[in-house]
Amino acid sequence: MKFVLLFVSVVLLAVILRKLFRYKTLAPLLPRKYNFGKRRDTLREVLRLLDERGAKVLLETGVARMGLEKSKGDGASTIVFGLWAKNNDAHLYSVDIDPEATRRAGVAVDAMGLGDSVTLATSDSVEYLDEFTDTVDFLYLDSYDYHKTDTAIQKASQDHHLKEINAIEGCLHDDTVILIDDCDLPNGGKGKLVIQYLTEAGWKIHMSEYQVIMVMGK
Ligand SMILES: C[S@@+](CC[C@H](N)C(=O)[O-])C[C@H]1O[C@@H](n2cnc3c(N)ncnc32)[C@H](O)[C@@H]1O
Repeated sequence: MKFVLLFVSVVLLAVILRKLFRYKTLAPLLPRKYNFGKRRDTLREVLRLLDERGAKVLLETGVARMGLEKSKGDGASTIVFGLWAKNNDAHLYSVDIDPEATRRAGVAVDAMGLGDSVTLATSDSVEYLDEFTDTVDFLYLDSYDYHKTDTAIQKASQDHHLKEINAIEGCLHDDTVILIDDCDLPNGGKGKLVIQYLTEAGWKIHMSEYQVIMVMGK
């Protein structure tokens, strides 16, 4: 009996410790209750790079339609980067093809008091990036959804993200930080072709986890 109790206690302790260890916050930027899971460390490093480089123009494809609600599942990017923009006198531009996604992201942005620091647009991202004229200090690619098994969707997603880079590359500069989501997935994820293309153009992988950070020559 004693042995069983000891065993159960050890298992329970291990479960609790595992949960605590895997719970990844972006505090102090956001309250500890928000868990950013597999994206936390790359998001933290991106924010450090943006601080270091004094980024002013942030641009993302694929809005956070759920605001902070899906910080772990989706990343809550519009709120994370919008908040950073507000705190650092910068501006985030975010585009999504789905008007309902943009509308919901707008509700979350307003609820967080980020309206003056975030511009949301409803458009195909490639068209939007093609018309973007400002210099981009930070680019986050997270639009066309990837699929773990459907190879046709995988290819379409990878092609789309490559088109995004081709559309915006004239606005990038040597200090631009690029972040690509959903990379550590079967067949290379969203970033496969983008990373190949950027590497050939002289960009380096700065950090590679579930998301990949790329910077020029460092
Ligand atoms: C994974 S979600 C974005 C998640 C968000 N970055 C976050 O952190 O919560 C992908 C989004 O890309 C959008 N999307 C898909 N195809 C697109 C396209 N061609 N142009 C712009 N947005 C697109 C979808 O409507 C969806 O809202």
